[in-house]
Amino acid sequence: MDSLDSTIAFVRVVSEGATPGERETLRACLSRSLPEIPPRYFYDDVGSALFERITGLEVYYQTRTEILILERYAKEILASSDPTQVVELGSGAGRKIRLLLEAWGSAAAGGTCGMLDINELFLRQSLERLGADHPTIQFRGIVGDFVEDVDRIGAPGRRLVVFFGGTIGNLYPHERRAFLRKLAAGMDHTDTMLVGVDLVKHPARLEAAYDDPDGVTAAFNRNMLTVLNRRFDADFDPSGFEHRALYDAENAWIEMRLVAGRACRVNVRSIGMYLDFAQGEELRTEISCKFTRASLASSAAEVGLVIDGWFTDPEALFALALLRKQAS
Ligand code: SAH
Ligand code: AVI
Repeated sequence: MDSLDSTIAFVRVVSEGATPGERETLRACLSRSLPEIPPRYFYDDVGSALFERITGLEVYYQTRTEILILERYAKEILASSDPTQVVELGSGAGRKIRLLLEAWGSAAAGGTCGMLDINELFLRQSLERLGADHPTIQFRGIVGDFVEDVDRIGAPGRRLVVFFGGTIGNLYPHERRAFLRKLAAGMDHTDTMLVGVDLVKHPARLEAAYDDPDGVTAAFNRNMLTVLNRRFDADFDPSGFEHRALYDAENAWIEMRLVAGRACRVNVRSIGMYLDFAQGEELRTEISCKFTRASLASSAAEVGLVIDGWFTDPEALFALALLRKQAS
């Protein structure tokens, strides 16, 4: 563990290079009938910066809407949650937790704030900025995976775990279940969880949010191939793949894909695997599940959690749900 200053502790629990487990997972994902790449590989420094640009796009209503909800309801959420510790998963640039910490105000003195993200640079930068502005809060950063390393976020007890951005939607339903089960198992009756979810709406609006006219989302999507080239010694030509976003109404999720513009063979050397793409063949790079209050309530109920607060915007584009353990 190293320390950025006296109030910030920092630990890395994921390795910088690809581990045997990661190689095995990638091999399994690429072997599916529709090959896939796990979405965590979006977020190298270039990808994280591209994501930040996405958050400012007109078509990408999610970020500004969640911020609006937080500005309006952060105090109410904190009054109901009454935490002494806040932990954010997938914290990114840390803009949203800042709003929560500001609303926490004097009650935050002596409190702790943990942040976990796969991207070390963004995590360090946001910890440094937040630490400078909130000297009475004890910060802890974990470079880790929010699915695998969620049990490293510390002990329960008046803990508020926040998962902003709709990132929970990037997990498949079975992954979401396992993730929520793990989190719920580590919660006691004084703990709460605040989850941001993008809501089901007209498919055209959803598809537009994932296919902006300036091609920022396309660049974000293609960048994943560069990450694979570096991390797994592959030889993808990102310019040979087109970006595609489509809404699957049956599953209520957006899919992002990469479509081969021409036939090509890709060598993923570190896993000893060749991929042959015919023109038009696709890779799935992300799903982004969309929710209703009822669908989130049923996900929560599966692991013994209930929605104790539901905060949304006037257009009902996005929601923040406050979850807690079902009274036994
Ligand atoms: N919470 C921020 C960022 C959302 S983008 C917001 O609402 O704007 C998703 C964030 O999750 C990125 O910062 C990315 O680095 C992180 N992330 C993605 N997959 C992850 C994983 N498996 N484990 C930990 N962090 C992950
Ligand atoms: C981080 N996550 C919630 C984003 C989303 O909307 O699913 C990632 C993203 N993909 C394309 N644009 C944004």
